[in-house]
Amino acid sequence: MKVLVAYATRHGATAGIAERIGERLRSHGLEADVVPAGSVKDPARYDAYVVGAAAYMFHWLGDATTFVRRNRELLAGRPTWLFTSGPIGTDLVDKDGRDVMETSIPREFPELRAAVHPRGEQVFFGAWDPTAPPVGMAERLMRLMPAARSALPAGDFRDWPAIDAWADAIAAELAAAPARMPVGA
Ligand SMILES: Cc1cc2nc3c(=O)[nH]c(=O)nc-3n(C[C@H](O)[C@H](O)[C@H](O)COP(=O)(O)O)c2cc1C
Repeated sequence: MKVLVAYATRHGATAGIAERIGERLRSHGLEADVVPAGSVKDPARYDAYVVGAAAYMFHWLGDATTFVRRNRELLAGRPTWLFTSGPIGTDLVDKDGRDVMETSIPREFPELRAAVHPRGEQVFFGAWDPTAPPVGMAERLMRLMPAARSALPAGDFRDWPAIDAWADAIAAELAAAPARMPVGA
């Protein structure tokens, strides 16, 4: 079975999560290609999909959203999982007591869920390096506002055991119920 792990990233944290998921799926005997969502060639040749992106200003990065929208029929017909690389820091609740895993769900998700009916979705803690060159207007503005910059905790908060466990669960689900009958069966 061939799995596509497609991702969108600005600073590489989500790419690292996608690579880790790909490695983990391979360790379970699956074939897995890890590809930027904007560069996927022939998505129909995969049996299952894991699509992930960073959240910025409450939105999933556009390449991943576009990939899911363009391939909605394909993804709806085969096992699909979605993930978001979002919250930075280690707090599970924000200053208003809300679950950060809930508040980090990108605004596109109600639409994308309805379009592709993912078997699962997950938010993972992300990473942020304030010394990295800014990408996009919000980060350029943040450069000019030290107070805003220091409000975001800097560091790599990616939770590798949680990422591995999620990938393991995907592999187990695919092993239990193959996506499509093999050609010639
Ligand atoms: C300007 C800015 C805005 C952000 N907005 C959000 C957000 O709305 N929701 C969220 O969960 N994380 C947000 N984050 C955190 C990023 O999603 C996190 O750093 C992510 O891991 C970055 O992934 P990347 O390196 O793949 O781009 C934001 C980070 C920055 C710097």
